[in-house]
Amino acid sequence: MDELRVEFLGHEFDNPFIIGSASPTVDGAHMRKIVEKGWGSYIVKTLSLDKNVRPDVRPRLSGMGRYSHLFGLQNCELITTHTLDWWERELRMLRDLDSPMIVSIMATPELEDWATMGRWCEENGADIIELNVSCPHGCPEEHMGSFIGQDPQLVHDVTKAVKDDVSIPVMTKLTPNVTDIVPVGKAAKKGGADALSTINTVGGINGVDIYNRIPAPYVLNKGTISGNSGPAMRTIAYKWVSELAANINLPISGIGGIDSWEAATGMMMLGASTTQVVTAAMVEGFDIVQEWKRRLAEFMREQGYETIEDIVGKALPSLSDYEHLEVEDHLYPEIDDTRCIQCQRCRIACADTGGEAIITPYLNEIDDDKCLGCALCKTVCPVDAISMVVRDGSLRWTRKQGPPTDRKEVDVGLTAEEGK
Ligand SMILES: Cc1cc2nc3c(=O)[nH]c(=O)nc-3n(C[C@H](O)[C@H](O)[C@H](O)COP(=O)(O)O)c2cc1C
Repeated sequence: MDELRVEFLGHEFDNPFIIGSASPTVDGAHMRKIVEKGWGSYIVKTLSLDKNVRPDVRPRLSGMGRYSHLFGLQNCELITTHTLDWWERELRMLRDLDSPMIVSIMATPELEDWATMGRWCEENGADIIELNVSCPHGCPEEHMGSFIGQDPQLVHDVTKAVKDDVSIPVMTKLTPNVTDIVPVGKAAKKGGADALSTINTVGGINGVDIYNRIPAPYVLNKGTISGNSGPAMRTIAYKWVSELAANINLPISGIGGIDSWEAATGMMMLGASTTQVVTAAMVEGFDIVQEWKRRLAEFMREQGYETIEDIVGKALPSLSDYEHLEVEDHLYPEIDDTRCIQCQRCRIACADTGGEAIITPYLNEIDDDKCLGCALCKTVCPVDAISMVVRDGSLRWTRKQGPPTDRKEVDVGLTAEEGK
């Protein structure tokens, strides 16, 4: 699949799918497996000087949803729990791999520490360094992670400290936990960053054990605000990647909620040249990349894209300020009776929140005069039977000849009777 090859920071990647710095990259054996399974590359779990290394708490993960329906994952995991001597041995076992080695590092604002870590990476075979100035828990309290990433001056200074001391490319990994990411990205660029990556996790609380009165995830009787990842965070990742791409001329590695080849393609269309994946690989395993590569290559052939570079930024021209959105042309729902399962969800949602326009969904009976065009019906449809279409004329009834006979049986937890 040569069309998936991509050049990023002077290195050739077999494909744009990279496993981001996190639990899947905790040691050399895991990273060998990642490459053997076909990922474009990996980013070593964040390393630091031995004085900054601490043990992790157990447990440290808590999910919103489960397995393939997991839409959010919260973790309070720290950076590596191993010393640099240990890592020297682990990285040695990766040197023969035909895949660029990206090493993530972290330090306090002590600039000499950043420079030391940068030199250490270069001496130990790294091809690219990622600067983690973005971890939202455990590290900020020690003046690391997003303590640095939320301050453009510090981001500039640490990026420059590493850049001045190494000859390999440096990518600064930005935090989503800011009001505006662009000034921070510009500061990294001014400090000499060769690329930007974002997002790291979003600080929050994803659940509460209401019987024990403890926020999740918790260790014995205490929880903490910590990092959220997974598909629900993709909205923030897409926003910040597109803002960086539109405002700063640097390559971007897009991270956050990539759980399918389509989500990765969206990330690239918003300006990322490579995409990093963590939560999806943790939940579904490293093998997912094989299907993603096959499907992306098929999509590229169908759509006439010859290279990954042809995809990068393709959706940016259609990203506009609200004031430029069209208000005159109206779209209306059209219900495909061969897909409709008569669950009534669209009718109920429209009756209670929309314009009471849907009369009989499976007959496509819609009163266009009452339709608000909001697309709530399309949003609640569990079988994707509703499209929004342009119509001419203000009032139009569509009554098809009799109910369809080949409707699919899909369990949506609501019978047709209950829905009425
Ligand atoms: C358990 C866990 C540990 C993580 N550890 C690190 C880390 O050591 N360094 C880092 O830069 N990011 C770390 N991250 C953040 C990820 O690299 C990534 O930015 C984030 O999870 C968003 O991507 P995703 O939605 O694909 O998981 C970690 C994420 C998780 C879930």
